[in-house]
Amino acid sequence: MINVDLSNLGKDIDFKSFEQKVLEIDDAINNKTMAGNDYLGWADYPLNYDKEEFERIKKDAEYVRENFDVLVVCGIGGSYLGARAAIDAINGFFPDKKVEIIYMGQTVAPSYITQALKYLKNKRFAVNVISKSGTTTETAISFRMLRDLLVEQLGVEGASKAIFATTDAKKGALLELCKKYGYTRYVLPGDIGGRYSVFTAVGLFPMAVAGIDIDAFMNGMRIGRERYGSHEMNDCYKYAVARHVLHKELGYPVEMLVTFEPKLVQLGEWWKQLFGESEGKEHTGLLPDAATFTTDLHSLGQFIQEGSPILFETCLSVTKPANDIDIPHDDDNLDGLNYLDGKTMDFVQKKAMMGTIEAHSKTGGVPNILITLDRLTATTLGELMYYFMRACAMSAYLNGVNPFNQPGVEVYKKNMFHLLGKPGY
Ligand code: PA5
Repeated sequence: MINVDLSNLGKDIDFKSFEQKVLEIDDAINNKTMAGNDYLGWADYPLNYDKEEFERIKKDAEYVRENFDVLVVCGIGGSYLGARAAIDAINGFFPDKKVEIIYMGQTVAPSYITQALKYLKNKRFAVNVISKSGTTTETAISFRMLRDLLVEQLGVEGASKAIFATTDAKKGALLELCKKYGYTRYVLPGDIGGRYSVFTAVGLFPMAVAGIDIDAFMNGMRIGRERYGSHEMNDCYKYAVARHVLHKELGYPVEMLVTFEPKLVQLGEWWKQLFGESEGKEHTGLLPDAATFTTDLHSLGQFIQEGSPILFETCLSVTKPANDIDIPHDDDNLDGLNYLDGKTMDFVQKKAMMGTIEAHSKTGGVPNILITLDRLTATTLGELMYYFMRACAMSAYLNGVNPFNQPGVEVYKKNMFHLLGKPGY
C-alpha cells in the first residue's frame, strides 16, 4: 500500500472542493471522453493486456538469458526510461544476475556510441530495439550500427535471431525491417504513448531479460488500477490535487522528487519525463526535478534550505530496504563513530530523512509531500508506477492540458532535420 502524507505542506487543502472535478476527470479517463482520449489505453491495460504476448515475452527472455551475455536496449524517451528505471530499482547496482543490460539509442553522442560498440565487439549480445514510430533518429542510427555489428559477428540469419523489436502493430520503418528480416516482434499498442508504456513489451521484455518477475510487476500494476482508478478522492488523486494547489494557488513552479536510494535515480528520470512531457505545455505546468539524498544534500541541499523559494519536495521513502548492513565496531574509535555501535545503515538513512524533512519543511518553509512504500519489490514498483501515471493524467487534466501529446518536442526535431538535410525538411 502506498501512503501519502500531506501534513508538511504548510497549508491545509480543502479536498472536498476538488471532489466533483476529480470524479469527473476520473470518469473521463475510464470512459475515454477527454482530450487525448485515443491515448488512454494504458488506464485499463493491467486488466486487458495481451496474455499471449506476455507469455511469449517470458519465453523469449529465457532464450536471451541462456544464449547471450548482454542485452542492448535501444530506444529513447518513453521507449527506454521505464525499463531502465524498473531494472535499476529492482536489481540495484552490481547485480549478480547473469545478463548485463546496457542502453543505446538514447543519445547521438559519438563518444558514447563508439565506446558502446567497442565494448560489444567480442561479446555475445542481443538487441531489443524499441520505437513506436520507427523513425526516431537517435534510435534508428544506433540500431543501424548494432545491426551491422551483429551481422559481422553472426551473419544475416544469426543477427535476425538476436534482434527483438518492439514497435507499432501496423506502421513504421521498424515494422518494415521486422517483416523483411523476420525479427521477433512485440507490439506497443496504438492507444498507449511512450511515457505510459512501461507495462507493455516496451518495459516488460528488458525487465524479464534482467531477471525481474514480470508477473509480479503486472500484478502491481493491476493493484494500482484497482486502488487509484477507484471512483473516489483516493491517495493518488490527493497527491495530484496537492501538487495542483501548490502550483496554481501557492505559485510554486518546481516539484523536486527526492529519493534516498541511488538505485532510484532512473525512476526519477522516468518520473521527470512522465510529468514534464505530460504537463509542460500551453505555458503552464510544474518543472519536474529530481534529487537523491543524502548525496545531493551536499550539492543542492544549501539551495533547497535557503535559496529562492521556488520548489516543493515530494519525498519517496521505502520503509524496509531490500538489504541492510551493520556499522562495525572499532576499538580505536579514531573516527568517533562508536556512538553508532549496533546500529544499521537503514537506521542512519531514516534519521537522515527525518532530519532533512524537518529542516526543509519546518525551518526552510519548503512544502513536503511524503510518499511511503513499505518495501520496494516488482509488485510495489508496478503499483507505484501506475500511481504516478494516474496522478499525472489527473494533474494535467486539472491544469486543463492534454497529457498525451508533446507538440513542443517536434520543434527541435524539425530544426535538426533541416540542418541535417533530411529530405522534406
Ligand atoms: O513518451 C513519448 O511519447 C516519447 O518520449 C517517445 O517515447 C520517444 O520520443 C520515442 O519515440 P518512438 O518510440 O517513436 O521512437
